[in-house]
Amino acid sequence: MSVIILAIESSCDETSAAIIKDGVVLSNVIATQDVHKEFGGVVPELASRAHQQNIVPVIDKALKDADTKKEELSAIAFTRGPGLLGALIVGTSFAKALALGLEIPLIEVNHMQAHILSHFIEEPKPKFPFLCLTVSGGHTQIVLVKDFLDMKVIGETRDDAAGEAFDKSAKLLGLDYPGGPLIDKYAKIGDSSRFKFSKSKVPGYDYSFSGIKTSILYFLRQEIKKDAGFIKDNIADLSASIQKTIIEMLIEKLELAANENNLSDIAIAGGVSANSGLRDAITDMAKNNNWQTYFPALEYCTDNAAMIAIAGHYKYAAKEFVGLDIAPLARMPLI
Ligand code: KG4
Ligand code: ZN
Repeated sequence: MSVIILAIESSCDETSAAIIKDGVVLSNVIATQDVHKEFGGVVPELASRAHQQNIVPVIDKALKDADTKKEELSAIAFTRGPGLLGALIVGTSFAKALALGLEIPLIEVNHMQAHILSHFIEEPKPKFPFLCLTVSGGHTQIVLVKDFLDMKVIGETRDDAAGEAFDKSAKLLGLDYPGGPLIDKYAKIGDSSRFKFSKSKVPGYDYSFSGIKTSILYFLRQEIKKDAGFIKDNIADLSASIQKTIIEMLIEKLELAANENNLSDIAIAGGVSANSGLRDAITDMAKNNNWQTYFPALEYCTDNAAMIAIAGHYKYAAKEFVGLDIAPLARMPLI
């Protein structure tokens, strides 16, 4: 008999639902919350309210797009964490209520593990063991992936995430939230060698991104004193230089981790893995190192329920179910 799973994602500012049948994603509906734009970042309380408004229509559409009735579902998978607690509560409660009503198993999914497993939605799929650089708005991790559900974080940021560095830098440039995609867009037409920003030095495979925004802030303050139109006139070169700095920091540690662990299958995941400069830099690095690289399709880089669904698929196969007393976790370690 076929296994059909409904997956629900509500960890941050995307309400998403997906249907997966025997490992094949049939639908993936994402409602992005625009309500945060005017505040320059995600407002947790508004995110929770928007999830409440969106969750029923999003799930209805996911079922409809997949031509599936809820009575046909084998299990419900949901993001348990990490993320905003109020946002997670909406998806978790809904998943629990549905599982109870339909009398089917409930599967908890770790959002960061799901970002990595997004590589198994479509071909080409990485071979185990591989190294995954997971770069999102809340996390930056180098993960040694031994199997679908066997992963180990070997390096991570000690403060800001890479996506946060993009977003905070973009805010300093007066760009809208989320700023990462806008920096990416301007960087394409800018000169990345024009401005230099200091990079933090952290031992091992760990990162630190909090210094970069301070370095940009002080630099901009000085330049604006001399010329009030400095940012506007140099937005492309500033974006390209900021992007280059963040990427160099990211890939330096990735290369070190790959070499020291003798791994040549390298993947990236998470919202920042959509960045064209990062993809180009890793492609170049792959040529020098003889790496096989894997980039998720753009629709699976930023938050989506298809990745929760594929994680649910593997957890269903491993019979990893949870009880109805499960509670969301704002902080949830990968293992
Ligand atoms: O994975 P994600 O959707 O949400 C979290 O789990 O945090 O990642 C969102 C992050 C934001 O910081 C956003 O600015 C960044 O991903 N992002 C990008 C790009 N697209 C999304 N950063 C740089 N370049 C992009 N093209
Ligand atoms: Zn994410």
